[in-house]
Amino acid sequence: MVIAIDGPSAAGKGTLARRLAAHFRLPHLDTGLLYRAVGLLAEKSGRPAGEVAAGLQSSDLADPELRTDRAGQAGSKVAALPEIRDKLLNLQRKFASQASGAVLDGRDIGTIICPDAPVKLFVTASTDARAERRYQELRERGVDTIKPRVLAEMAERDRRDSERAAAPLKAAPDAFLLDTSDMDADAAFAAALAFIERKGFRSSGP
Ligand code: C5P
Repeated sequence: MVIAIDGPSAAGKGTLARRLAAHFRLPHLDTGLLYRAVGLLAEKSGRPAGEVAAGLQSSDLADPELRTDRAGQAGSKVAALPEIRDKLLNLQRKFASQASGAVLDGRDIGTIICPDAPVKLFVTASTDARAERRYQELRERGVDTIKPRVLAEMAERDRRDSERAAAPLKAAPDAFLLDTSDMDADAAFAAALAFIERKGFRSSGP
């Protein structure tokens, strides 16, 4: 079983992906990390992004700095380049084709990476709800910021991700739309699980 999860940042797709992966005992790939790593490594080393993408190692994905907004912005810039997307395509498809099945989350999983995935979710929330979540998350991590700045950065990244020509952020026509604006993580998980079970998939565990 492949579960494809797409949506904008801070909509809750990462948390949902991890919980579904644990529930169904599937490996999980946060594909945003690939773009973040390429963008940040290229920015810091001055090497061309294409070269960084071609030589990306799984150990490059463990850097805590990948969670920063700098990495998010750098990732979204290289993600607009078709050459970079092409270089990261096989790695993602290979992950998805494991015999066990897999959960992948990103922006183009249901549309480009795994168009045949039997389960597709598009997780979204209002810009205000997403900015508030991101703001609280940054404050908990001790980052000094203000909400209007978080909102502006998020709007800029959303615009770049949705308006780019190469694999723009959009829901696959057969995706289940999950608006988490008024849901907590438990409610989002319950709604996603109900959809997946309606499709006939159940966890094999106890
Ligand atoms: O999801 P996350 O915020 O970590 O993604 C960082 C950036 O990587 C996004 O803003 C987006 O531009 C890009 N991305 C993408 N396709 C994916 C995953 C992420 O273009 N499948």
